[in-house]
Amino acid sequence: MVEIAPSMLGADFGEMRKAAELVAPESGYLHMDVMDGHFVPNITMGSDLVKSLNGIGPLDVHLMITDPCDFIDDFANAGAEIISVHIEANNPKEALELIKKHNIKAGIAINPSTPEEAIDSIVDYADIILVMSVEPGYCGQSFYEGTINRVRKFKKKYPSKLIEVDGGVSAKNSQQLIEAGADILVAGSAVFNSDNPIHIIKLMKQG
Ligand code: DX5
Ligand code: ZN
Repeated sequence: MVEIAPSMLGADFGEMRKAAELVAPESGYLHMDVMDGHFVPNITMGSDLVKSLNGIGPLDVHLMITDPCDFIDDFANAGAEIISVHIEANNPKEALELIKKHNIKAGIAINPSTPEEAIDSIVDYADIILVMSVEPGYCGQSFYEGTINRVRKFKKKYPSKLIEVDGGVSAKNSQQLIEAGADILVAGSAVFNSDNPIHIIKLMKQG
């Protein structure tokens, strides 16, 4: 069954704990978007903020940072159950190996503009392929339609890997993504801009 992972970047940062507690009972993971202002043009959260939500729900940490190897221990110690790094970042293979040393799931993230084959040589080191459906950096961007086909291709090529989709995901495209083979759907604005986040999560789970 598909898991929904609300992106906490879409929540009000002043009410982060409350938002996490609200969505966690219906969520597979709480998705935490870490940005360094260098790999992407935005700065978001560090390991202390991630740690502050530890125990509310399983934490899925998405590192959009240039040098992930420098911070993996911090995020693993903060309680992450998944850590994903980008194929476009420095030393992704070493980063995946570092993540696996913590006995947690490792994800390889790929931007929409990066050719699919880019992950071929290191996908063996990952448990999850994190397929970006927007160029990373911000919540609330439009879903890139080509993602559905990409998910289908990745699932066919790598059936043993979990496929996670991130960016512009909502109840409008969840069904197509699930049919294409998605295992985890990340949603920020679709969940947190709604008056009823739990209802949206349930809708997306149904496909
Ligand atoms: C984009 C982030 C996403 C984003 C999702 O850089 O990685 O996780 O917060 O937000 P929505 O669902 O609003 O696109
Ligand atoms: Zn993300």
